[in-house]
Amino acid sequence: MKSSREKYDFFPTPLSIAEEMAQWYADSDINHIVDLGCGEGNLFKAVKKHQCESKVSAYEIDSSHMDKLGSADDIGIFDLDLTQHSPRQVKERSSLIISNPPFCKGELNLSVRKKVVLSGLAGQHIIKSKRIRLEVVFLYRALEASLPGSLICFILPIAFLTSRVFYRARKTMLEEHCWDSCTIYENNEFEGTETRVVMIHATAQAGETQGVKVNFSKSGLTKKIDIEDVEAGKVLDLCRNECNDVPKIQDFGVELSRGKQCAKMLRDIGLQFVHSSHIRQLHSGLIKGVSKSNETENKEQFARAGDILISRVGTRCLGKAVMVESGAIQYSDSVICLRAKKQYAKGLFNYLVSDEVQYYFQKYAHGSCAKLITYDMIRELPVSVAI
Ligand SMILES: C[S@@+](CC[C@H](N)C(=O)[O-])C[C@H]1O[C@@H](n2cnc3c(N)ncnc32)[C@H](O)[C@@H]1O
Repeated sequence: MKSSREKYDFFPTPLSIAEEMAQWYADSDINHIVDLGCGEGNLFKAVKKHQCESKVSAYEIDSSHMDKLGSADDIGIFDLDLTQHSPRQVKERSSLIISNPPFCKGELNLSVRKKVVLSGLAGQHIIKSKRIRLEVVFLYRALEASLPGSLICFILPIAFLTSRVFYRARKTMLEEHCWDSCTIYENNEFEGTETRVVMIHATAQAGETQGVKVNFSKSGLTKKIDIEDVEAGKVLDLCRNECNDVPKIQDFGVELSRGKQCAKMLRDIGLQFVHSSHIRQLHSGLIKGVSKSNETENKEQFARAGDILISRVGTRCLGKAVMVESGAIQYSDSVICLRAKKQYAKGLFNYLVSDEVQYYFQKYAHGSCAKLITYDMIRELPVSVAI
């Protein structure tokens, strides 16, 4: 068991969210609570308060949390790396498996990757890639630990509802594990993660869901969404009115401009410039400008430090982005420059290169042959993380 805190980013579940989870199950008669990645125990402690008789099995990789977990006869704490090992299977039918897993990718050995694919939570492609979203691994561990009828409640990034990355997991949860409701939280309710979260409620091996009841934590509004739409990642699109607190990129006061000259012309003039293919190579990284260019007359065509350059055309380049680290540099007409207020630039950049936005660009790009990104697509992009 590892003891270094640095090794595992730790974001305790906010007590308000833990209490909401506890309230949700307050009237259920639960005999066994299982917490996967329990951290300092905020989740299971909140749920146990309403389920005094139930026993707890909590799993955690980071020993530095142990002091805060305390001990009691009916609380078992297990130091276990869930990417490597399975939790014990519950024996009680009235069990609740809870988790607020890490929101990141982690390494998984081949035999576990194969099992995750067999469970239906991820596609065949993960057999080849060693790294996989840990949210999916923890969900798999929850199903492994469950019996038919066990309740499963997870706190996940909002991308679980919107991103293609979680498509298989959504589909399997909807088709096999009766995932019939979820609660969407406010943008910055989960301090430190910069991620909006959703709490999902499902029942292991309880068959197909008949539509998902989506609750909004702030307004208390509820909307029922067809499972085809949930599967397709459309929940936020369909809840635009209920989600009027979801800002769009344009709400951050960004300015957009497109390069005025094509790569060939810029090359002929002998200017250094950024083209979509450079952006593809450097995607999600920083580039240095040529400081001198700042003083040229057509300054407006130069990106400067803090600007984000987005490739607007090209099958393999579409939506890729880099940030200008210093100086200034010209860009070709295949590139859109996004200039944001200083305090938002880094956050917007991280969001633009995330899997969720990369998928948005691919999905909504215009044109059937040569796909391209428009200003409107960027302006209208919903920002589902706290910037
Ligand atoms: C978002 S935190 C959960 C916080 C917890 N609910 C609380 O309120 O304290 C995710 C937890 O998963 C743990 N974790 C990360 N990787 C793990 C692994 N491979 N196996 C078990 N636990 C892991 C982290 O150490 C962290 O405590």
